[in-house]
Amino acid sequence: MTPEGIRGRRAAAAWGGGHLLDIERLAREEIERVLDLARELKAAHGRGALAQPLAGKLVALLFFEPSTRTRSSFEIAAKRLGAQTVVWTSQGSSVSKGETLLDTALNLEAMGPDALVVRHAASGAAGLVASRVGCAVLNAGDGAHEHPSQALLDAFTLRERWGSLEGRTVVIVGDIAHSRVARSNLWCLTRLGARVRLCAPPTLLAPGLDRLGEPGRVTLHERLDRALEGADAIMMLRIQLERQGGGPPLVPSLREYARLFGLSERVAGELPAGALVLHPGPINRGVELAHAVADGPRSVILEQVENGVAVRMAALSLLVGGGRP
Ligand code: CP
Repeated sequence: MTPEGIRGRRAAAAWGGGHLLDIERLAREEIERVLDLARELKAAHGRGALAQPLAGKLVALLFFEPSTRTRSSFEIAAKRLGAQTVVWTSQGSSVSKGETLLDTALNLEAMGPDALVVRHAASGAAGLVASRVGCAVLNAGDGAHEHPSQALLDAFTLRERWGSLEGRTVVIVGDIAHSRVARSNLWCLTRLGARVRLCAPPTLLAPGLDRLGEPGRVTLHERLDRALEGADAIMMLRIQLERQGGGPPLVPSLREYARLFGLSERVAGELPAGALVLHPGPINRGVELAHAVADGPRSVILEQVENGVAVRMAALSLLVGGGRP
């Protein structure tokens, strides 16, 4: 993150150092501030009493990778707060003619946005853009590094259900090695007082991840049944074939993976009463998650999507609107 107040026009934007690049460098108080503001904004929207702190602002969305939820959620969030938006995707752009990430970002910045929302396949891409532009940058997912707004909406959803994450156990199951969602969540959830169990076959479980997050709060597991003991919530992740390169497959077969690591109706039926099921999307139904579980009573997946707009409104408000609800 850039030093606070480095640029005059955003001197008031102390939150996140002026950008939202990762959860790792957000203090617990900064996480709670965005979640509290998201709660206020969600309630205000429900009452039809949302103010327009971003009126006259321009938010540019730069998506070098596909997205359904994150892109539309940021755009809706910006528009609900009164901002104008411009959506740029690499498809049909001058990237196909060889234009780089930085040249693309600098050219869009020259058109005067107040914020750039950036998704890119390279870890560190949003941070690189932030180091070169004069407006706020929000990381919408950079490679296998972080997806901070996803973790914030996940924490918001759990906090809304539980009141607090203190002492709770959240199990994250799936392609941990390639997951920016897992990385952001292990910081976010442990910083808010939860324990995180990461569960995957050895080839999808990056060694050393248990040294991240708040000390002693992250553990690694290779057996789903043991990881799920006493769980308060289970976050299922898809296998990210697009990040596995052209090498040999990291799981012998999807059918075997689904049998050993998928959340079937039978496995979900053995979860502790009240345990919640999350998924950041997109879901590979029948692989990591059975239809009946994705659409069943434990699932808060569509709540996550709804809350994503509130959390992104809060982040934009703090970074671009001076923090006013
Ligand atoms: N959760 C998430 O990042 O979904 P999208 O890829 O659709 O944005």
